[in-house]
Amino acid sequence: MTKNTVTITDNRNGNKVDLEILDPTIGSSTIDIRQLHNKLGLFTYDPGFQATASCKSDITYIDGDKGILLYRGYPIEQLAEQSNYLETSYLLMYGHLPSHVEYYDFVGMIKQHTMVHEGVKHFFNGFHHDAHPMAIMVGVVGALSAFYHDSLDINNARHREISAHRLLAKMPTIAAYSHRRAHGLPLPYPRNDLDFIENFMYMMFSVPSEEFKVDPAAVRAMRLIFILHADHEQNASTSTVRLASSSGANPFACISAGIASLWGPAHGGANEAVIRMLEEIKNPDEIPKYIERAKDKNDDYRLMGFGHRIYKNYDPRAKIIREACNDLLNVLDSSNQPLFETARQLEKIALEDEYFLERNLYPNVDFYSGIILKALDMPLNMFTVIFAMARTAGWISQWLEMMEDKEQRIGRPRQIYTGAKVRDYVDLSKR
Ligand code: CMC
Repeated sequence: MTKNTVTITDNRNGNKVDLEILDPTIGSSTIDIRQLHNKLGLFTYDPGFQATASCKSDITYIDGDKGILLYRGYPIEQLAEQSNYLETSYLLMYGHLPSHVEYYDFVGMIKQHTMVHEGVKHFFNGFHHDAHPMAIMVGVVGALSAFYHDSLDINNARHREISAHRLLAKMPTIAAYSHRRAHGLPLPYPRNDLDFIENFMYMMFSVPSEEFKVDPAAVRAMRLIFILHADHEQNASTSTVRLASSSGANPFACISAGIASLWGPAHGGANEAVIRMLEEIKNPDEIPKYIERAKDKNDDYRLMGFGHRIYKNYDPRAKIIREACNDLLNVLDSSNQPLFETARQLEKIALEDEYFLERNLYPNVDFYSGIILKALDMPLNMFTVIFAMARTAGWISQWLEMMEDKEQRIGRPRQIYTGAKVRDYVDLSKR
């Protein structure tokens, strides 16, 4: 069978190269450019990787125009409705929905790893009292590699699996501790009689002097947020995890790099930034002023929680979570109601504004998840930490896949050098 190709001609000299077209199971075909430099002496230029596939992956599929998101082929809508976070994590990691036995084995395995080494706890005292929990996450998750040497051989499949289980299981414990340290609260041990989300809520909010009561509405909303954020193919933080891992670095260090990348307001930091923006706007009457700022070319201001690199019609995660958000706000008697009213008005005004319509800027998942987390009285600086916990399933699945990929190479982009040509060193006395 002949391969499908495209021919690239260098119009400066007429040199040509045939490049193979690689077809995915669904989605856009891709030109394999690996021979381009050998044959024509040319590289490709694509800042922000807007048109570049960096790997082959079986895990997550997105169609940004149609608003489709599939984990291992399963529509996000079905998983959000019927699955739970650990089952979704199993699906992402192992490629299939677990059987009854596989599911309970997996849940049991994750529960075995929820505690952290007692030595890890000392780190929390070393951080400044008002450290952002994301700063603590970056440090402590990276530091796990100093504790779990017994499973750090990245060429051993069983070691990789144990490290992946450890990361998934310990993230809620580390996340809750990063919050409790700042508030002078004791660090509780995880409770394995509770499910994954309940246990996180327990570690966040329990106090030794009172019985902890699980709030089912909060657990349901968190479960949804966790499933919707579990993976999103080659986004900035996942690509960071893959790039860091491509050098053979250990998974704890690589996930820590992913957390650092997620922290930025253009990515996972957006859910926190949404609430800061709403608090700044304060009054719905002020919204037009902020909309004008977002539209002003000479102002860097952007509406947080609006826009997406891939979704240009709607974000399917936002569609699901918007309903949950409205349901929650309708039943809630919260002191934050004025803030939620500002959010509703902002959503309405932006969705009717020509600037936002022309650029396909719709509220994204973080707009609504930020509001839900605020409605649940989650501390603001924990919003992005929650995203990081949820995305851990995706990061470790992408890492496990990459480690088995025979085409995997150290990540090493090229550049267009625009600096000085060769010049001679000038002695300090003559400058
Ligand atoms: N407010 C105002 N204008 C915007 C916004 C916004 N939030 N987002 C994009 N634009 C404008 C931008 O100025 C540009 O206008 P023009 O064509 O006139 O120059 C146009 O829309 C295209 O923007 P872009 O920066 O080229 O788009 P991108 O694909 O590089 O960026 C984005 C995507 C998500 C980084 C961006 O929309 C943004 O900064 N949004 C706010 C932050 C946010 O909510 N991030 C969470 C993303 S969803 C969760 C996740 O994946 O982590």
